[in-house]
Amino acid sequence: MSRKLEQDFVGKTYDDFLFRPQHGVVASRRQVSLRSRLSRHIDIELPVLSANMDSVTGTRMAKTLALEGGIGFLHRAMSIEAQAESVRQTKRSQGYVVEHPLSLPRDATIREAREFTQRHNITGILIEETRGNKILAGLLSNRDMPWNDDHLGHRVEQFMTPVEKLKTAHPGVSMEEAERIMFDHRIEKLPLIDEDRHIRGLITKKDIILSRQRPYSSRDEKGRLLVGAAIGARGDFLERAAELVRAEVDVVLIDIAHGHTEIMRQAVESFRQQFGAVELICGNVGTTEGARFLRDLGADAIKVGIGPGRGCRTRLETAAGVPQVQALREAWCAVEESVPIIADGGVRNDKDIFLALVCGASSVMLGSALSGTDEAPGHVIENPATRQKSKIYRGMTSPQAVFETLYDTDDSEAVEAALDVPAEGQEVQIPYQGSVVDILQRVRGHLRSAVSYGGGNTLAEVRAQVVSDPLRFLISLSPAARRESYER
Ligand code: XMP
Repeated sequence: MSRKLEQDFVGKTYDDFLFRPQHGVVASRRQVSLRSRLSRHIDIELPVLSANMDSVTGTRMAKTLALEGGIGFLHRAMSIEAQAESVRQTKRSQGYVVEHPLSLPRDATIREAREFTQRHNITGILIEETRGNKILAGLLSNRDMPWNDDHLGHRVEQFMTPVEKLKTAHPGVSMEEAERIMFDHRIEKLPLIDEDRHIRGLITKKDIILSRQRPYSSRDEKGRLLVGAAIGARGDFLERAAELVRAEVDVVLIDIAHGHTEIMRQAVESFRQQFGAVELICGNVGTTEGARFLRDLGADAIKVGIGPGRGCRTRLETAAGVPQVQALREAWCAVEESVPIIADGGVRNDKDIFLALVCGASSVMLGSALSGTDEAPGHVIENPATRQKSKIYRGMTSPQAVFETLYDTDDSEAVEAALDVPAEGQEVQIPYQGSVVDILQRVRGHLRSAVSYGGGNTLAEVRAQVVSDPLRFLISLSPAARRESYER
């Protein structure tokens, strides 16, 4: 039997509560851990997710979110190939080991090598014996590259450091050992090769330094950034999933507006049949029954939110919806800690993130709050009269997003389905906000402060204390108290 929803949460959302300050014990806010669960098998250091929307998460947002300790969910309003490529780019961008390093053959010219380094923005090239055979012949580093134009027609083998003089390591080398070799020999690149001299990877000093600077980044066991990607529940969703899994996506999200449906049941069953234990998040639901339904289907995390989002019109058009804090509480009472809950939509101020977490969510998905940034897809628009800068944010079922997606697809079933449903999303302009890194830093700071007011040393500690009896810690606001709190 699951817990009963507390009556005081019915009809309530973020601005209905304040948190009662507790006896603070934090010595230094910078030390406060915000580690939390994304899903059954993945933890993250900053419980913030970027929404799978075409005005929020492309490759650049996904990389930045993971570097900062959160995780991005790539939207699916693009071709399967484009989405899978975006996963690959995110995973390739940073890892302790570059798994498939680029290479040129011995007989390539210096001209070719120069173009190659510029095109791929790399500082050294592994040289193979013959084009494509991946047998290491040497390394052409920045220092080896002739800098005047006299040698453009010469072969790279004349300038490379040959394999006999190179320091290399085995593919299974530990990070500590690789670092030691690189420091002892004052080298910046360490090729990994097997007994047959086959290229099996590359470790670079730059990547090691970057990962040291951000120990909180979200990474897989190979040190590559974590990334999620959304699929639907019909049409070509299994083909999309197959390509994403092939591209080594870390977590798949079956994201449909109404997740408590037979369509979802069939989708999850087919997904599990084909992909077994691939980490799977499902949503959206907003009720006790919906959360229980997704837990029983075996979701690794449950995404909660029916209509709170800034670009949503669902509640206005259909009357369906659940105030977001009530929805989170319903979901938590249904599943407690057996499956992590993601609070999706409706976050306007940083305090909402903390309230979501202590009321039952383990992480929070943000759309509009991240969409005015450089890392979000889309252009900055300047109003010529006021000079104010903004970016476009749009619900994924807004007419603009739907038409652009349809323009891009060959899936006639999807086209028909989309044209059948009137819009439940809209487009809004969001003030331009610079880099998302600054926003995430601010969120991190505010969450740490909130933990301090919460009377614990870590987010997990405070959350564990509050979540089973939040009304002991929350104050319901009168209209006057709400004005005093939020009107500035
Ligand atoms: P925020 O408030 O963070 O919300 O901007 C982001 C979430 O909004 C949802 N979303 C939609 N909901 N119609 C809806 O009813 C739409 O067209 C739509 N597009 C996005 C989605 O859950 C997202 O994460």
